[in-house]
Amino acid sequence: MLILISLIIHILFLAVSFDIHFTSPVVQNVSSHSWKKTGEAKRLVLIIADGLRFDTFWKANTLHLHNIGTTRGVWGRSRTQLPTESRTGHVAVIGGFYEDPSAIFKGWKENPVDFDSVFNRSRYTWSWGSPDILRIFSKGHNVDHIFTDSYSPEDEDFTGTNAYKLDEWVFIKFKDFLSSAQKNATLQQMVRRDKVVFFLHLLGLDTNGHSKKPHSREYLENLRFVDDHVKELEDQVNNFYGDNATAFLFTSDHGMTDWGSHGAGDPSETDTPFVAWGAGFYKPKIPSLSLHSVRRDCNQVDLTPLMSAVLGINFPVNSKGFLRAEHLVDDMKYRAIAMLGNAEQMYEQFKSLEEKKKATTYSFTFSAYPPLADSHYAVTDVQNLIDRGFYKQAIEAGEELHLISSSGIDYYHRYDSLWLYSVATLGFIGWIAYTLHCIILGNVKMTPNRNIQLIFVALGVFQALYLFCK
Ligand SMILES: *[C@@H]1O[C@H](CO)[C@@H](O)[C@H](O)[C@H]1NC(C)=O
Ligand SMILES: *[C@@H]1O[C@H](CO)[C@@H](O)[C@H](O)[C@H]1NC(C)=O
Ligand SMILES: *[C@@H]1O[C@H](CO)[C@@H](O)[C@H](O)[C@H]1NC(C)=O
Ligand SMILES: *[C@@H]1O[C@H](CO)[C@@H](O)[C@H](O)[C@H]1NC(C)=O
Ligand SMILES: [Zn+2]
Repeated sequence: MLILISLIIHILFLAVSFDIHFTSPVVQNVSSHSWKKTGEAKRLVLIIADGLRFDTFWKANTLHLHNIGTTRGVWGRSRTQLPTESRTGHVAVIGGFYEDPSAIFKGWKENPVDFDSVFNRSRYTWSWGSPDILRIFSKGHNVDHIFTDSYSPEDEDFTGTNAYKLDEWVFIKFKDFLSSAQKNATLQQMVRRDKVVFFLHLLGLDTNGHSKKPHSREYLENLRFVDDHVKELEDQVNNFYGDNATAFLFTSDHGMTDWGSHGAGDPSETDTPFVAWGAGFYKPKIPSLSLHSVRRDCNQVDLTPLMSAVLGINFPVNSKGFLRAEHLVDDMKYRAIAMLGNAEQMYEQFKSLEEKKKATTYSFTFSAYPPLADSHYAVTDVQNLIDRGFYKQAIEAGEELHLISSSGIDYYHRYDSLWLYSVATLGFIGWIAYTLHCIILGNVKMTPNRNIQLIFVALGVFQALYLFCK
């Protein structure tokens, strides 16, 4: 009997610590700000080469994408976090946050919670690629502006013979799409509006990486195939629109180890490349000869506010990404306004979380996050600086507000955990003491002492009361 109860209690404590440790990073009910600026770009082409690792990209010689990075765009390493899986990587790039690891246990295929994304904030998004990935962003409420086209799951040839054909499929579909828009007046009108996103998900490299390993001829040839087709695609887009108002972002969801796996935290898995060029992105004044000297690294989630800023769409409300002004076009006013929008969006998450904590905590035990206790001024401060034309200072103030809001969010995420941990620990110690007590009693064959039992009951009641009050 004691053993059974003991087992249950151990499982319970495990579950409790798991629950305390993994809280969803998604703050619900956050209001969104339109940030008073039209985007530099009317549309964005997002290309994600699944499973392309940073060092393979960087060491490959003479890629068209390298050339873009040194002459007319910005490039660098974007670092992702554990677990380095396709789902998490895509959510980080497009939604702007690293998903709650407990989502693993809720199944990768469905969304445990509704979250906002660049696609959701776009006017229209057209996407092509693997059904598993496209479904993450096109499921849920009010997503009838996100269109998907994928091959059937059976076509995903994971044995890796000619895996590049998965990429070819996507590029062909995109080309066909542009020519059908040429002929169809309704579609033509839709694609010519602003805030439009095209998303190309390329699974070939991931498939080749798993089956042939990242140092194989197949993996490198697949990279070259993608590189050539990105070049073609840019020409197709420019011929179609002819307005220089397209932004391009090329990146990857996660890397790949030498032995063809991903999921863990090795740099070969967490480090991915990104190259951004076209309308709204930074463009060097003079071309550089070395890729290395113009690297501007960031975190994977930082790509979300970057895409939002060039398109002029609202920053997705769940994004934790930090906009790096140096990635944006060299226009201080544009950078400052975008930075303010990014900071405000982070601050809104903070406020929403604070409200929630306030509502679920007794006011006499509630202690607000000190640095932002009187923060209304911070947002208006940044706005004032912009109004007075002090853009550099406004960018700095915006960055600071973003960072403070971000640590405020951590503060409230961890708010209860210290108390919960202490209560759980106390409970566990109590249980150990009680078991010891029983064992000793059992050995010396004494009847249980009523007083000691009362003490345990009192302790339990105290703990329950304490939990209730917090
Ligand atoms: C969201 O916020 C509104 C207004 O602030 C509130 O009425 C509503 O109950 C909130 N919803 C949730 C799910 O917290
Ligand atoms: C998606 O965007 C719409 C507005 O464009 C917004 O009302 C909605 O809340 C967003 N969805 C999520 C899950 O945030
Ligand atoms: C034109 O495009 C629209 C929007 O995608 C679609 O609903 C319609 O069926 C197309 N018309 C033709 C004749 O293909
Ligand atoms: C697009 O950019 C090119 C090169 O900067 C320039 O020559 C061309 O005139 C631009 N086209 C339009 C429509 O602005
Ligand atoms: Zn992947």
